[in-house]
Amino acid sequence: MIYVVYYSGTGNTEAMANAVSEGINAAGGEAKLVPVSELSASALKDEAVFALGCPAMGAEELEEGDMEPFVAELEGFVSGKKIGLFGSYDWGDGEWMRTWAERMQNAGAVLAAEPVIANNAPDEEALASCKALGEALAKA
Ligand SMILES: Cc1cc2nc3c(=O)[nH]c(=O)nc-3n(C[C@H](O)[C@H](O)[C@H](O)COP(=O)(O)O)c2cc1C
Repeated sequence: MIYVVYYSGTGNTEAMANAVSEGINAAGGEAKLVPVSELSASALKDEAVFALGCPAMGAEELEEGDMEPFVAELEGFVSGKKIGLFGSYDWGDGEWMRTWAERMQNAGAVLAAEPVIANNAPDEEALASCKALGEALAKA
Protein backbone atom coordinates (compact mmCIF):
# COMPACT_ATOMS: atom_id res chain seq x y z
CA MET A 1 0.00 0.00 0.00
CA ILE A 2 1.36 3.41 -1.00
CA TYR A 3 -0.03 6.57 0.55
CA VAL A 4 -0.75 9.56 -1.69
CA VAL A 5 -1.24 12.41 0.78
CA TYR A 6 -2.32 15.76 -0.61
CA TYR A 7 -3.72 19.20 0.08
CA SER A 8 -5.88 20.84 -2.57
CA GLY A 9 -7.97 23.98 -2.18
CA THR A 10 -9.54 24.13 -5.63
CA GLY A 11 -9.02 20.62 -7.02
CA ASN A 12 -5.93 21.02 -9.22
CA THR A 13 -3.54 19.13 -6.96
CA GLU A 14 -6.32 16.65 -6.24
CA ALA A 15 -6.55 15.85 -9.96
CA MET A 16 -2.78 15.27 -9.92
CA ALA A 17 -3.12 13.02 -6.84
CA ASN A 18 -5.72 10.94 -8.69
CA ALA A 19 -3.30 10.47 -11.60
CA VAL A 20 -0.43 9.51 -9.28
CA SER A 21 -2.73 6.91 -7.68
CA GLU A 22 -3.72 5.64 -11.11
CA GLY A 23 -0.03 5.16 -11.95
CA ILE A 24 0.63 3.28 -8.71
CA ASN A 25 -2.30 0.94 -9.35
CA ALA A 26 -1.39 0.48 -13.02
CA ALA A 27 2.10 -0.65 -11.98
CA GLY A 28 0.70 -3.26 -9.59
CA GLY A 29 0.78 -1.23 -6.39
CA GLU A 30 -2.14 -0.29 -4.19
CA ALA A 31 -2.60 3.47 -3.78
CA LYS A 32 -4.21 4.95 -0.69
CA LEU A 33 -5.35 8.47 -1.49
CA VAL A 34 -5.80 10.66 1.61
CA PRO A 35 -6.29 14.41 2.15
CA VAL A 36 -3.57 15.63 4.53
CA SER A 37 -6.22 16.89 6.98
CA GLU A 38 -7.29 13.28 7.56
CA LEU A 39 -3.90 11.77 8.38
CA SER A 40 -1.27 12.31 11.05
CA ALA A 41 2.33 12.37 9.84
CA SER A 42 3.22 9.52 12.18
CA ALA A 43 1.12 7.21 9.98
CA LEU A 44 4.02 7.37 7.50
CA LYS A 45 6.70 6.30 10.00
CA ASP A 46 6.60 2.68 8.88
CA GLU A 47 6.08 3.42 5.18
CA ALA A 48 9.14 3.12 2.92
CA VAL A 49 7.52 4.76 -0.10
CA PHE A 50 4.86 7.47 -0.42
CA ALA A 51 3.76 10.54 -2.40
CA LEU A 52 2.95 14.06 -1.19
CA GLY A 53 1.10 16.74 -3.10
CA CYS A 54 0.65 20.42 -2.28
CA PRO A 55 0.08 23.56 -4.37
CA ALA A 56 2.16 26.72 -4.08
CA MET A 57 0.59 28.84 -1.36
CA GLY A 58 1.54 31.87 0.71
CA ALA A 59 4.58 33.31 -1.05
CA GLU A 60 6.02 30.16 -2.65
CA GLU A 61 5.24 28.14 0.44
CA LEU A 62 3.37 24.99 1.42
CA GLU A 63 -0.22 25.29 2.63
CA GLU A 64 0.29 26.41 6.22
CA GLY A 65 -2.67 24.91 8.10
CA ASP A 66 -2.16 21.20 7.49
CA MET A 67 0.66 20.49 5.03
CA GLU A 68 3.39 22.67 6.57
CA PRO A 69 3.16 21.08 10.06
CA PHE A 70 2.79 17.64 8.44
CA VAL A 71 6.00 18.12 6.44
CA ALA A 72 7.84 19.62 9.44
CA GLU A 73 7.07 16.47 11.45
CA LEU A 74 8.04 14.26 8.51
CA GLU A 75 11.50 15.83 8.39
CA GLY A 76 12.25 14.02 11.65
CA PHE A 77 11.89 10.53 10.21
CA VAL A 78 11.87 10.72 6.39
CA SER A 79 15.55 9.80 6.01
CA GLY A 80 16.03 6.86 3.64
CA LYS A 81 12.42 6.82 2.47
CA LYS A 82 11.56 7.03 -1.22
CA ILE A 83 9.09 9.77 -1.97
CA GLY A 84 7.36 11.52 -4.85
CA LEU A 85 6.34 15.18 -4.79
CA PHE A 86 3.75 16.95 -6.92
CA GLY A 87 1.59 20.06 -6.95
CA SER A 88 -0.05 22.85 -8.87
CA TYR A 89 0.93 26.52 -9.05
CA ASP A 90 -0.18 29.66 -10.87
CA TRP A 91 1.86 32.84 -11.22
CA GLY A 92 5.19 31.65 -9.84
CA ASP A 93 7.99 29.67 -11.49
CA GLY A 94 7.91 26.56 -9.32
CA GLU A 95 10.10 27.97 -6.57
CA TRP A 96 7.93 26.43 -3.85
CA MET A 97 8.57 22.95 -5.28
CA ARG A 98 12.33 23.47 -5.59
CA THR A 99 12.41 24.58 -1.95
CA TRP A 100 10.23 21.65 -0.86
CA ALA A 101 12.28 19.04 -2.76
CA GLU A 102 15.52 20.43 -1.35
CA ARG A 103 14.07 20.40 2.13
CA MET A 104 13.06 16.74 1.81
CA GLN A 105 16.44 15.77 0.39
CA ASN A 106 18.24 17.65 3.18
CA ALA A 107 16.21 15.53 5.61
CA GLY A 108 17.54 12.42 3.86
CA ALA A 109 14.58 11.48 1.65
CA VAL A 110 15.25 10.03 -1.79
CA LEU A 111 13.14 11.36 -4.66
CA ALA A 112 11.84 8.34 -6.62
CA ALA A 113 11.39 10.62 -9.65
CA GLU A 114 11.57 14.32 -10.50
CA PRO A 115 8.83 16.33 -8.77
CA VAL A 116 5.84 17.01 -11.03
CA ILE A 117 4.43 20.54 -11.19
CA ALA A 118 1.40 21.69 -13.15
CA ASN A 119 0.35 25.22 -14.03
CA ASN A 120 -3.20 25.51 -12.65
CA ALA A 121 -5.35 22.56 -13.80
CA PRO A 122 -3.04 19.74 -14.95
CA ASP A 123 -3.10 19.23 -18.73
CA GLU A 124 -2.72 15.83 -20.40
CA GLU A 125 1.07 16.05 -20.26
CA ALA A 126 1.12 16.88 -16.55
CA LEU A 127 -1.33 14.06 -15.84
CA ALA A 128 0.90 11.63 -17.76
CA SER A 129 3.88 12.82 -15.68
CA CYS A 130 1.85 12.24 -12.50
CA LYS A 131 0.98 8.75 -13.67
CA ALA A 132 4.67 8.06 -14.40
CA LEU A 133 5.54 9.31 -10.92
CA GLY A 134 3.07 6.80 -9.46
CA GLU A 135 4.58 4.01 -11.54
CA ALA A 136 8.09 4.94 -10.33
CA LEU A 137 6.88 4.84 -6.73
CA ALA A 138 5.28 1.42 -7.20
CA LYS A 139 8.58 0.10 -8.57
CA ALA A 140 10.80 1.88 -5.99
C1 LIG B 1 -3.50 31.88 -0.78
C2 LIG B 1 -2.87 31.46 -2.09
C3 LIG B 1 -1.51 31.64 -2.28
C4 LIG B 1 -0.90 31.27 -3.48
N1 LIG B 1 0.45 31.47 -3.64
C5 LIG B 1 1.02 31.10 -4.81
C6 LIG B 1 2.42 31.29 -5.01
O1 LIG B 1 3.15 31.75 -4.13
N2 LIG B 1 2.94 30.94 -6.23
C7 LIG B 1 2.18 30.41 -7.23
O2 LIG B 1 2.73 30.08 -8.29
N3 LIG B 1 0.85 30.20 -7.06
C8 LIG B 1 0.26 30.53 -5.88
N4 LIG B 1 -1.08 30.33 -5.70
C9 LIG B 1 -1.86 29.71 -6.79
C10 LIG B 1 -2.14 28.23 -6.52
O3 LIG B 1 -0.94 27.52 -6.30
C11 LIG B 1 -2.89 27.64 -7.71
O4 LIG B 1 -4.15 28.27 -7.79
C12 LIG B 1 -3.07 26.14 -7.65
O5 LIG B 1 -3.58 25.68 -8.88
C13 LIG B 1 -4.01 25.71 -6.54
O6 LIG B 1 -4.03 24.31 -6.47
P1 LIG B 1 -5.26 23.52 -5.84
O7 LIG B 1 -6.41 23.60 -6.83
O8 LIG B 1 -4.78 22.12 -5.66
O9 LIG B 1 -5.59 24.19 -4.54
C14 LIG B 1 -1.68 30.69 -4.51
C15 LIG B 1 -3.07 30.51 -4.30
C16 LIG B 1 -3.65 30.88 -3.12
C17 LIG B 1 -5.12 30.64 -2.91
